[in-house]
Amino acid sequence: MELNNVVVEKENNLAVLFINRPKALNALNSETLSDIGTAARALTEDDDVGVVIITGMGEKAFVAGADIKEMKDMSPLEARRFMIFGQSVFNEISNLPKPTIAAVNGFALGGGCELALSCDMIIASENAKFGLPEVTLGIHPGFGGTQRLPRLIGAAKAKELIFTGQMIDASEASKIGLVNKVVPYENLLDVAKALAHKILKNGQVAIRLVKSAINAGLDTTLEKGLAYEAETQGLAFSTEDKSEGLSAFMEKRKPNFKGR
Ligand code: CAA
Repeated sequence: MELNNVVVEKENNLAVLFINRPKALNALNSETLSDIGTAARALTEDDDVGVVIITGMGEKAFVAGADIKEMKDMSPLEARRFMIFGQSVFNEISNLPKPTIAAVNGFALGGGCELALSCDMIIASENAKFGLPEVTLGIHPGFGGTQRLPRLIGAAKAKELIFTGQMIDASEASKIGLVNKVVPYENLLDVAKALAHKILKNGQVAIRLVKSAINAGLDTTLEKGLAYEAETQGLAFSTEDKSEGLSAFMEKRKPNFKGR
């Protein structure tokens, strides 16, 4: 897969998707968004890939936001279309039927913070900076930040970050529950990969089903979420992995999951 602004590297059931536009601090122009969407669809189809890590190329930025130069002269209708496009690409990330880990290696601002929020988990390097600075530009977050940030960290903290546009460092992001873990920059990808490998040891169909149950539950009532959970668990019981996992426990051995 040859894309201008995204590089995908694969190793042992793990894919690392690099946003690769370091000269513009990996800012998301239309082409980069489109490349992310293309890569996400290919990774969805690729049965060899069980976990996807998303990170930024270069030492400075994960993603410094939507491309301000491209947005500068957009009409209201063009801006609306651009937001819907960005949201649709980030929905593809959020709905990817395998776990995603954002490995935030520097600035994650605006659309960059929103990309990280579309992933299942966020690991940040000590030099990472998070923020939704759009109001400092006279606009506001438009690639999902107004919806995903309050769902993750609560409305009051999300409003504080969005209304002030202030940047926070990785340790503050960890305190407010925005990131799962903070690690030294040099260890970032290794730690993300170690987490991925812990996930890859488990039954992959169960992981896919439980991700869909958690995501569906976040958008609905507890009652409907519980009903969905019972359905996905029923499906998990139809897999070979379920027979293998429960037998391995009884036989006091490690399971040999096949992902089916
Ligand atoms: N869009 C386009 N280009 C960007 C960019 C962006 N979001 N962020 C950085 N760049 C470009 C700069 O223009 C600069 O390019 P040139 O060398 O051609 O001038 C290059 O990347 C390096 O950036 P800086 O010189 O600014 O680097 P710095 O170290 O001085 O500052 C920074 C780093 C604090 C991250 C600063 O670049 C910055 O504030 N960037 C913008 C952050 C921002 O406001 N993001 C939100 C965008 S709006 C949005 O995302 C809307 C939405 O929700 C969809």
